[in-house]
Amino acid sequence: MTRIGFIGGTGPEGRGLAYRFALAGHEVVIGSRTPERGREAAKEVADRAGSASVTGGENAVAARQAELMVLTVPFAAQADTLPPLREVCQGKIVVSTAVPMQFEGGRPSMPVVPEGSAAEQAQALLPGALVVGAFQNLGAAKLWKGDEPLDQDVVVCGGDEEAKRQVSALAEQIRGVRAVDGGPLSSARYVEGITVLLVGINKRYKALAGVRIAGL
Ligand SMILES: NC(=O)c1ccc[n+]([C@@H]2O[C@H](COP(=O)([O-])OP(=O)(O)OC[C@H]3O[C@@H](n4cnc5c(N)ncnc54)[C@H](OP(=O)(O)O)[C@@H]3O)[C@@H](O)[C@H]2O)c1
Repeated sequence: MTRIGFIGGTGPEGRGLAYRFALAGHEVVIGSRTPERGREAAKEVADRAGSASVTGGENAVAARQAELMVLTVPFAAQADTLPPLREVCQGKIVVSTAVPMQFEGGRPSMPVVPEGSAAEQAQALLPGALVVGAFQNLGAAKLWKGDEPLDQDVVVCGGDEEAKRQVSALAEQIRGVRAVDGGPLSSARYVEGITVLLVGINKRYKALAGVRIAGL
């Protein structure tokens, strides 16, 4: 059992992952800019998962209490949200789920990220943390749908092998998920890009499709 803290865990992706991790028996702390919103989201996740181990509060509280942290704020919010958490993230595994995405004429595309990816930006903002990119291709709607097997891969990227191993083990506790080692953190840019592709595919096919790496 790990105590997992979410930064910006009140949105659909944070709640979806929190629900799946609570189902897997982990303790979850849902962080928010507003303690009340964090507590409301925690109650919703706890009720759905039938778990007493989901609490909520301010982002800083979630970060302090967490053994492992998951970032689920929008990419654009990282630059303001992460620096105040620098100290508390020191030496901790911090999972980056963010996908830099913009819409032009209704079409999704990726803005240029000077650091290369959202995950590398998170690492630059949190130099003492062990940042791992993961879960960027898991859509919130399917995570929240119920305890259905997802039938998807989670590509895990990072510079610390033990941190990657722990995040891979966590990912595989979500039913129907296989973790795939995506290599160094710099590969997270490709994983994030797949989500931009998936958003277009899902719109055209009216689907909740995800990713499976074939041939492994
Ligand atoms: N949604 C998906 O299906 C999906 C799939 C794959 C990856 N992701 C990634 O997962 C992350 C979360 O996605 P989401 O759809 O849940 O996002 P979201 O609903 O837009 O935002 C999540 C939470 O972040 C906080 N937040 C929003 N703007 C902020 C700001 N300017 N500064 C600080 N905090 C802010 C809010 O929490 P409070 O107001 O409570 O503070 C909000 O509830 C994103 O980075 C996204 O790229 C999402």
